[in-house]
Amino acid sequence: MEKFVIRGGKKLYGDINISGAKNAALAIIPAAVLCEDICRIENIPNIIDVNMMIKILEHLGARTSFVKPNVLEIDTKNIKAMAAVPDEMAQKLRASYYLLGAMLGRFGCASVAMPGGCFFGVRPIDQHVRGFELLGADISTKGAIISASAPKLIGASVYMDNVSVGATMNVMLAAVKAGGLTVIENAAKEPHIVDLANFLNSMGADVRGAGTDVIKIRGVNTLHGCTYSIIPDQIEAGTYMVAAAAAGGKITINNVIPKHLESISAKLIESGIEVIEGDDSVTVISNNGRPNKCIVKTMPHPGFPTDMQPQMAVLLSIADGTSYISESVWDNRFMYIEQLRRMGAKIQVDGKTATIEGVNTLLGAPVKADDLRAGAAMLIAGLIAKGETVVDNIHYIERGYENVVEKLSGIGANIVRVSVETGDKKVIAGVI
Ligand code: EPZ
Repeated sequence: MEKFVIRGGKKLYGDINISGAKNAALAIIPAAVLCEDICRIENIPNIIDVNMMIKILEHLGARTSFVKPNVLEIDTKNIKAMAAVPDEMAQKLRASYYLLGAMLGRFGCASVAMPGGCFFGVRPIDQHVRGFELLGADISTKGAIISASAPKLIGASVYMDNVSVGATMNVMLAAVKAGGLTVIENAAKEPHIVDLANFLNSMGADVRGAGTDVIKIRGVNTLHGCTYSIIPDQIEAGTYMVAAAAAGGKITINNVIPKHLESISAKLIESGIEVIEGDDSVTVISNNGRPNKCIVKTMPHPGFPTDMQPQMAVLLSIADGTSYISESVWDNRFMYIEQLRRMGAKIQVDGKTATIEGVNTLLGAPVKADDLRAGAAMLIAGLIAKGETVVDNIHYIERGYENVVEKLSGIGANIVRVSVETGDKKVIAGVI
């Protein structure tokens, strides 16, 4: 078993490079299924969920190869119409459900087991199913397997009951080859929605309005391969911004799109942190002691991202005063608070609101990652705590953060990855 061991209290200085966006890659890789050709996708992050998605495509009959680090070629010519995504694969990640839209869009049929993904309460897929049905598909479930079939998909008006990243992406995938016009209203506007639309258009699709709440898709008959580069990861960048804000110091985060980080930058500036935007970088300077208290409400883009909520709670756990975080997207995304309390944080949770009474410092302790972003929060907590923090369940963190030990070590953090077999800690990566 492997863990991260962090010795806190060091300020962070230097440069860090951001990888490709996980939540864009996890939609774009399955989208390649829509053409019978070869797609070359650049800036692919080397993370557990992406590698699992690649395995799923290979299971369906695609041929894939990394022709260079982070550059993936996918040949989808040999994918068979009746290929299905089995439970043991679909369960590994949430994004496996994109194969429903992609296979339905290409073949008019799909069979995918219910998806997995981080657990923060109920995660229904009713909006996905409703969108497919409006396009003319019959949906059936047998045990954990969801099947979709449509002799011919016909463009339709799809008004989302609630803003859903996954449902917006899945309906886009099913609609690009449907007959006629599909209009998605109340669509999600995240940067990765725009990235998927740009990828689909590079394949010859006709998708307009992505990034607004109305997306119009005119069906086309065929799609072709393309070369495409994935956008930088908004949440990875935000995580390192908050790490620097909490630990203190000055770091420049390169290969970002500052516009995607606006809500995070604004909240850090409100908490007394200096954020300087470059063309494709942000510099975070934090030398003024404890951050200011503030109120955070997570919202769909362009609001403050829910995927940054746990990380922000760590920063506010040492703020000067009492802060509040309300979680409007997920039912139960405060499970990590228990781990922060073990480090001395004073946080009370009442339903979807956390009240955070700032303390002077956190104290190192053995903690665990409950999910991907909770794990990122434990890393930040370890960086700022006095003493040693040991983080367990690190596979959650490596589902979404490429080379996290190397990146943090590179800006001066004391972090190592250790193998803990017979109680001894064998350092595998990093320097402590
Ligand atoms: C995506 O999840 C992301 N995952 C999540 O990031 C992110 O938290 C979420 O979007 C919101 O931004 C991936 O992209 C792989 P939703 P998704 O559909 O698509 C409800 C991370 O850390 N809903 O936008 O599953 C749902 O319950 C992960 O990278 C329905 O009610 O999220 C939730 O309350 C964690 N019915 C809200 O909508 C549906 O059919 C938003 O969910 C679908 C969703």
